[in-house]
Amino acid sequence: METLFAYLLIFAAISGALASDPDLLQDVCVADFASGTKLNGYACKDAANISAADFFFDGLAKAGVPNNLMGSVVTAANVQKISGLNTLGVSLSRVDIAPGGLNPPHTHPRATELAFVLAGVLDVGFITASNVLVSKTIKEGEVFVFPRGLIHFQKNNGDKPAAILGAFNSQLPGTQSIAATLFTATPEVQDNVLTKAFQIGTKEVEKMKSKLAPKKA
Ligand code: GLV
Ligand code: MN
Repeated sequence: METLFAYLLIFAAISGALASDPDLLQDVCVADFASGTKLNGYACKDAANISAADFFFDGLAKAGVPNNLMGSVVTAANVQKISGLNTLGVSLSRVDIAPGGLNPPHTHPRATELAFVLAGVLDVGFITASNVLVSKTIKEGEVFVFPRGLIHFQKNNGDKPAAILGAFNSQLPGTQSIAATLFTATPEVQDNVLTKAFQIGTKEVEKMKSKLAPKKA
């Protein structure tokens, strides 16, 4: 009986440890970008050295200028811009999309996105793992959800600039833009992977690689 009781105690301790809440163990853990300590996120700055500046960012106040191939620009407000977001599990981004512009199909490996339309009208959608397109036209003041990890996009088919504010349940959601990821990776993805995957010729692959290559400043 005593042995059984001991086993039960050990089991409770282990399952308690495994199910433990991964939530914060302190009020704040402002990222110390200078720390050499490697962990899941950033090491905390000495609390005596934190200030309002660690929790502030004005980079979303103004519209970004979408003067690029896609006609869209994303401005992130994540832990890399706001060190006070470290360990808090949230962040934002602002996407400005010119008339005719596209925020091209991409995924966020670490977060669901809740998008709020700041201005304009957008045709948006995501594709499920069963290959079903879920799409809708959304306008100023409306929200749409892009579930974690699923490919999604926003297209401005209107004649006025559009913008959305994306809220994420990650301090650093990560973004993989499908075409750019495959055609501009370093080192390059072999042409014969891309010709086979997309059923196109080497010439088209080379054309895609050069079109999508990041423009030199
Ligand atoms: C929009 O989809 C964004 O990722 O900012
Ligand atoms: Mn997104």
